[in-house]
Amino acid sequence: MKGTQCAPFPRHHHHHHRGGGISSSATLIRRPKWIIILVFFISISVIGAYIFPPRQYVYSPCYFFSSPLCNPFGDWKNSPTERDLTDDELNSDAVIKEILSTPPVESDNNKIAFMFLTPDTLPFEKLWEKFFYGHEDKYSVYVHSSDHKSGHASPIFANADIRSSKVEWGKISMVDAERRLLANAFQNTDNQHFVLLSESCIPLYNFDRIYRYLMETNVSFVDCFHDPGPHGTGRYSERMKPEVKKKDFRKGSQWFSLKRQHALIILADTLYYTKFKKYCQPSMSGNKNCYADEHYLPTVFNLIDPGGIANRSITYVDWSEGKWHPKTFMERDISKRLVKNLTSINKCVHVTSDEKRVEEQMHCLWNGVQSPCYLFARKFYPQTQHKLMNLLSNLAII
Ligand SMILES: *[C@@H]1O[C@H](CO)[C@@H](O)[C@H](O)[C@H]1NC(C)=O
Ligand SMILES: *[C@@H]1O[C@H](CO)[C@@H](O)[C@H](O)[C@H]1NC(C)=O
Ligand SMILES: *[C@@H]1O[C@H](CO)[C@@H](O)[C@H](O)[C@H]1NC(C)=O
Repeated sequence: MKGTQCAPFPRHHHHHHRGGGISSSATLIRRPKWIIILVFFISISVIGAYIFPPRQYVYSPCYFFSSPLCNPFGDWKNSPTERDLTDDELNSDAVIKEILSTPPVESDNNKIAFMFLTPDTLPFEKLWEKFFYGHEDKYSVYVHSSDHKSGHASPIFANADIRSSKVEWGKISMVDAERRLLANAFQNTDNQHFVLLSESCIPLYNFDRIYRYLMETNVSFVDCFHDPGPHGTGRYSERMKPEVKKKDFRKGSQWFSLKRQHALIILADTLYYTKFKKYCQPSMSGNKNCYADEHYLPTVFNLIDPGGIANRSITYVDWSEGKWHPKTFMERDISKRLVKNLTSINKCVHVTSDEKRVEEQMHCLWNGVQSPCYLFARKFYPQTQHKLMNLLSNLAII
């Protein structure tokens, strides 16, 4: 099943064994006194070193426990006991660090880029037109549609089409389309956040609320969790090594919102992109299926800037039916109660795909405070537009 709702909390509290090779006191007692004294002094100095470590290690538990969970980036990249970086990795590392430490170009007119990924026409153009109305200086719109000839129902979308190519479900062409949208939207230096939406998405809040939610935070909303099961790490190929190790492989829903620095990193990346293009495909040898759109972004951000992403999506999808594709809401499902339900969700849940089906829940945080998780929801049938427009308008969302 493709299903994930959002991201896990890092609940890997491994209990390290600190006092390894100390033999039982019963054996010690039979030894000469000097051994007891020696052991005593060694223990004191070990405890002393632990309490008063050399300065540069004060903040690094990895000084004692070289677990991979300790400081993943700094540690594996810089530790002399690990391999050297390849030239490509070194280049990539330098570029990414520079981008992350450079504030984006200042704009007097910050905008959100709404990037629609759709196979053909957008069924909810009229709905979005109402949503955007009155906020002309605060948004821009981009549409990647494999079928250009379809035309638009709203003038807002009239000039929004970008050059598009065919997108095949689960293939790298999906990631290519996402990057194409980013590359187009990035050219406008006013754009600070880049939201990926599908044709079946609707907004759950009014424009101002969504604008502030995205603009007044410095994280990207990228769904990311560790799934040790067949639909998670089971899709990993050893050929992604050494740049992407099995333990670094992550999963998440494709519907992201990226801040400007992160969008640039994705545009600049060839190292990880190439790995996923080659080794994360449907129907690979060994009957392996890998879907790059569910793994590329989560894995890259987990590697390069784990603290910079929220580990969850801001787009609700209902996977509760347990099928390959999420539930699609029909006219009879649309009600005030449904919208209230979706906007009251404040925890996100990830379930692993192994037989244990471990459920990880996390509170959705916004700048450290608990908040609703979702700003958008999918999937809605095109025929629901009329009812949706009445409802969202009554709720002052559009
Ligand atoms: C976001 O900004 C806060 C301060 O406003 C800072 O503490 C935090 O480290 C920043 N996070 C990132 C990922 O830049
Ligand atoms: C996301 O997960 C990573 C690693 O699992 C963690 O370091 C980071 O703090 C998490 N981000 C948030 C906002 O919880
Ligand atoms: C709202 O959520 C409740 C509890 O999760 C559920 O039982 C109910 O069916 C939902 N109602 C709608 C209209 O989706």
